[in-house]
Amino acid sequence: MKQEIDVFDYAGTICHALRKGVLLTTKAGDKVNTMTIGWGKIGVEWNRPVFIAYVRESRFTRSILDENGEFTVNIPYGVCDSKIFGYCGSKSGRDTDKIQDLSLTLEPPVAIQVPGIRELPLTLECKVIYQQLQDLEQIPEEIRQQFYPGQTPDLHIAYYGEIVGAYIIKE
Ligand SMILES: Cc1cc2nc3c(=O)[nH]c(=O)nc-3n(C[C@H](O)[C@H](O)[C@H](O)COP(=O)(O)O)c2cc1C
Repeated sequence: MKQEIDVFDYAGTICHALRKGVLLTTKAGDKVNTMTIGWGKIGVEWNRPVFIAYVRESRFTRSILDENGEFTVNIPYGVCDSKIFGYCGSKSGRDTDKIQDLSLTLEPPVAIQVPGIRELPLTLECKVIYQQLQDLEQIPEEIRQQFYPGQTPDLHIAYYGEIVGAYIIKE
């Protein structure tokens, strides 16, 4: 069962959860992949509720997102095994099936093709409506050195996901 929510009633919960990590799940063809994200924003643009995720250019997730511009965000709500974030934040879907490895349970989606993850019940279904590669020139030197050192910076792409569904997965 899914309990529909007004996503802005949970904005604080979502932003606090980002400090430890939430899951961003993508799907292209039969391949479902999830990764931990710690950066994100929730707000309004073009009169739509939007979740912005920041995904580095090199991520496997990026290649899936570029094939199918949809994603789910799953946020802990209640008890959650924090090992999930370490694993999904260090292993790549290029090399392994993280969902299978952790025995995570996929939840059928409502408005998009990408499933959610039952173990992290607070779920946002998002459709990418805009994306933007960060402009290195506009980033302060101190931040550049910390996050994008060297000759080939692995920049973040901001994926603006219109939130087309928001709910808590119940037993
Ligand atoms: C707590 C935490 C937060 C993270 N946040 C982000 C993020 O916001 N954006 C990003 O591109 N990578 C982030 N990462 C790194 C990715 O989760 C990691 O590189 C992952 O293995 C990528 O998976 P993929 O190759 O299957 O896409 C984070 C990792 C951790 C542990």
